[in-house]
Amino acid sequence: MSAVPIRTAVGAKYARIMSVGGYRPSRIVTNEEICERIDSSDQWIRERSGIESRRWAAPDESVIDMCLAAAGKAVAQAGITPTQVGAVIVATVTHPLQTPSAAAAVAHRLGTGNAAAFDVSAACAGFCYGVSMANDMVRGGSAEHVLVIGCEKLSDFTDSYDRSTAFIFGDGAGAVVIGPSDEPAIGPTIWGSDGSEYEAITQRASWIDVRDHNVDFPMLTMQGQKVFRWAVWQMAPVATQALEAAGITSDQLDAFIPHQANLRIVDAMVKTLKLPEHVPVARDIVEAGNTSAASIPLAMERMIESGEVKSGGLALLIGFGAGLVFAAQVVRLP
Ligand SMILES: CC(C)(COP(=O)(O)OP(=O)(O)OC[C@H]1O[C@@H](n2cnc3c(N)ncnc32)[C@H](O)[C@@H]1OP(=O)(O)O)[C@@H](O)C(=O)NCCC(=O)NCCS
Repeated sequence: MSAVPIRTAVGAKYARIMSVGGYRPSRIVTNEEICERIDSSDQWIRERSGIESRRWAAPDESVIDMCLAAAGKAVAQAGITPTQVGAVIVATVTHPLQTPSAAAAVAHRLGTGNAAAFDVSAACAGFCYGVSMANDMVRGGSAEHVLVIGCEKLSDFTDSYDRSTAFIFGDGAGAVVIGPSDEPAIGPTIWGSDGSEYEAITQRASWIDVRDHNVDFPMLTMQGQKVFRWAVWQMAPVATQALEAAGITSDQLDAFIPHQANLRIVDAMVKTLKLPEHVPVARDIVEAGNTSAASIPLAMERMIESGEVKSGGLALLIGFGAGLVFAAQVVRLP
């Protein structure tokens, strides 16, 4: 056995979110258009989900294209060049190739040189998973700047004739650059999974079923009520733990940016958390629908751009979804 010591990487003391950039496809899809294919109404969709419209990407617009649009903004705003990005993490469940990853194409087309690149499959929690990993990578010394992108083209995987999902999902991308910081700016991540509810949100069939059993293209299915109850009852305690882990109380927050799953879920969490009224809450779902991994960074960008929250404020993020999986952390906004 060799007694020669090996060197290990040394990272920054702390990491922070340096910038945020979003991309919303141009096509606005109204509830009326959704109701052309399902037995529903604009009123029902607004009352049950809070959604008034959502965006759909163009047929030839890919997850990779949308990632690049959001990432370009985030990298420029961070004041770094693409070659300074050491790793690209794309959180997505709608990149339509099993392999290679969307991230490798994004890293290449963005001009990072040869940044490390991989996708994360954690559905609507994917962005918060990515933030957690990027935080550890910057502090661990495996990359100085990490680009974290949440991006979905859910319109490709949603059955527009399925009453339980057709109205809920939308398309879009949001990106952040995470880099070194002198001050603590990303709190501990509270995360986990409950695989006993693996079937609660899932593709209808596997690619093997498509190949061997001639089944239709495997769209997403969702047990809406089950997911709703889980989110309302199980996620508020996770959010509370993230606050405690960061050593702050809810009245010290400048924003609450939960995954935009359903406006009723957001409102129920606000109530359970006893969030003070002065804390602005992301309600981007009204015009974006549920964009899964993209929903938190998109909502973050909108809140900062609209002046609803000041840059540098403290925000509580929480993502949750298929798996089931979840992740929450307090961050200082870019
Ligand atoms: C999908 C969701 C909006 C449905 O709302 P809900 O209140 O749970 O609706 P239910 O499934 O209990 O159905 C209630 C009634 O509406 C009807 N309904 C269901 N879908 C409908 C639709 N699209 N339009 C009109 N009526 C509908 C049902 O048939 C049922 O009618 P009934 O009372 O006569 O039997 C809600 O369950 C939800 O948001 N779940 C979580 C989804 C989510 O967050 N997914 C992403 C996870 S990250």
